[in-house]
Amino acid sequence: MHKIAVLPGDGIGPEVMKQALKVLDKISKKYNIQLTYEFADVGGIAIDKYDTPLPKHTVKICENSDAILFGSVGGPKWENLPPEKQPERGALLPLRKHFNLFANIRPVKVFKPLKDACSLKNELISEGIDIVIFRELTSGIYFGQPKYISEDRTYAVDTMKYSVEEIIRIAHLAFEAAKLRNNKVTSVDKANVLMSSVLWRETVTEIHKKFYTDVELQHMYVDNASMQLVRNPNQFDVILTGNMFGDILSDEAAMLSGSLGMLASASINESGFGLYEPIGGTAPDIAGQNIANPIAQILSAAYMLRYSLKSDSAATDIENAIEQVLNEGYRTADIFSGKDGEKKVNTEEMGNLICEYI
Ligand code: NAD
Ligand code: IPM
Ligand code: MN
Repeated sequence: MHKIAVLPGDGIGPEVMKQALKVLDKISKKYNIQLTYEFADVGGIAIDKYDTPLPKHTVKICENSDAILFGSVGGPKWENLPPEKQPERGALLPLRKHFNLFANIRPVKVFKPLKDACSLKNELISEGIDIVIFRELTSGIYFGQPKYISEDRTYAVDTMKYSVEEIIRIAHLAFEAAKLRNNKVTSVDKANVLMSSVLWRETVTEIHKKFYTDVELQHMYVDNASMQLVRNPNQFDVILTGNMFGDILSDEAAMLSGSLGMLASASINESGFGLYEPIGGTAPDIAGQNIANPIAQILSAAYMLRYSLKSDSAATDIENAIEQVLNEGYRTADIFSGKDGEKKVNTEEMGNLICEYI
């Protein structure tokens, strides 16, 4: 029996989570995987109910689970609270830190039927796109100390800090992943300006020399990398980068796949425990309308099956069902281009269709 902590969060979180759970119910029956769900409040909804974005009992439920399925948190209602009380800083970041989820894996795949939704020219992605971003998630400028606004509010400080160990452990995962893929790692930094990037580059080079000489290693500055991603995305295989650069590059990469609503991520720690979530947010502009794309949340559930529950075939089955539904022309609004053969569907309908194809 696998215990799953389900944290839908705010905005579109609960709407898309409902679809992911439907898919999990279907797939768990098919593969005879025993799942139990423990629901818990996190983010804005927890502030409203308990005056804190991360209640202790939510952390307890996560601690007693085999994996965390996370929606998204935040939104305009809570944006003006003191920074430490806000959903993102007060819940998501502490959860990542608490469970030491240092490796954030963000696969960027273009499903062939969605080539028209990609913002790039078709010829650039004619072979499809298959990149995976390894983003360091529990250090760097997000967590470095000191971090404050001066009392008179005339200046503010964030600290970008990386230790060699923190760089080494994420680098190993990226190189290992590359060995099973196209054997290339692009390490993205800003070593021409930042000291933490100088150490990053040095450390990655050393790990490469010691353990992975068969893997091609390339270093790239982050400004160039963001340009290369839209100039020629197929030059990338595995992108290895720090917390903030990975955040920004992954939203950019999402548009290669047509919509932020298509990309999911796995955040894992050294013992393989993981939190699974879409890379996008609560989408306040479309929340509550049953029009959000549930695919990122459904893919998060697939990654949970793959990485935490070691059920690769169930995960692949979900991915194939998504591809078939897209092949049939079904599109939520964010990936609908109006071409012949496309059929616009809402959040619920997309969830139901994916279940039907499993
Ligand atoms: P966002 O990712 O919520 O939305 C950006 C754009 O992408 C919007 O136009 C939105 O409609 C669209 N979009 C995102 N997911 C979609 C989906 N599944 N289907 C269709 N369209 C989708 O980013 P934002 O507007 O900058 O942030 C809104 C809130 O979400 C903020 O409070 C932010 O901090 C929070 N956020 C949370 C997480 C998280 O919990 N992991 C991640 C990112 C942002
Ligand atoms: C993400 C989000 C978060 C991040 C925010 C909400 C804290 O943008 O998961 O990409 O920056 O890590
Ligand atoms: Mn982000």
